[in-house]
Amino acid sequence: MTIEVIVLKAPRPDLYDLLQQNMWGFEVNFRISDALKPLQVGIDGRDLLLGGLEGQKPIVYGLSQEIRKWRTANAKTVKSGKKPALFRALGVGGGDRVIDATFGLGRDSCQLIAGGVAIEAYERVPELYFLARASQLWEGIDEEQLKIHFGSVQTNPQNLPIYFDPMFSDGHDRKAKSGKGMQVFHQLVGGDEDAMNEAKRIKNLTNRMVVKRAPKATQLLEGRNSEWTSKAVRFDLYL
Ligand SMILES: C[S@@+](CC[C@H](N)C(=O)[O-])C[C@H]1O[C@@H](n2cnc3c(N)ncnc32)[C@H](O)[C@@H]1O
Repeated sequence: MTIEVIVLKAPRPDLYDLLQQNMWGFEVNFRISDALKPLQVGIDGRDLLLGGLEGQKPIVYGLSQEIRKWRTANAKTVKSGKKPALFRALGVGGGDRVIDATFGLGRDSCQLIAGGVAIEAYERVPELYFLARASQLWEGIDEEQLKIHFGSVQTNPQNLPIYFDPMFSDGHDRKAKSGKGMQVFHQLVGGDEDAMNEAKRIKNLTNRMVVKRAPKATQLLEGRNSEWTSKAVRFDLYL
């Protein structure tokens, strides 16, 4: 797999080397240009960028900032006497390990990492894999905390809980797809139309799978064992 990365402003030379040597068989071609087209991946000095849609500014990508944000948000929930729903659904806390089968922009993984959970992540869209791995390398996020794989989860020798959050929609969306980030993301990923088959396949890899859905959406697989619903999301648990 090869990905073209647009260089708007060159990073430090050691950062080029870091990227080229640590992408695990995933080849990176750098091209210098003065503009980023929609959905292109770019580097602007130290910033990692994803090109916005026509007329929109690029999105700046960074996992460390997301982890910091979640540290604050998790602490607020814990202070109010609760454990965040994602942790409850997965049955995990600090020191545990989870497979995130659908890393995306990594927001859910960052919430878990902020709570001390280690993540084995999978993402099949090359641009999103590149951004995640590059951000990890540049920001020095430990591989004990986050290990990102390109592609889909195939094995789970330690029988870890698996989190599955595909784009697949049955018309009951979680939230309006009007945000700039969401529109770009939607164009890049599409609708994950194989989500039901993937859910069946992934269920066979674990004794505990959690699927994220919109509160009113249908179950991706019939027969969930439990659910956690808030205003914005629902987590379905399959044992
Ligand atoms: C809705 S997004 C996940 C958002 C993520 N939970 C977050 O917090 O940013 C779904 C992502 O999973 C990826 N994906 C969907 N099905 C997948 C599969 N079977 N294997 C690997 N990646 C998958 C898509 O490419 C997309 O980036």
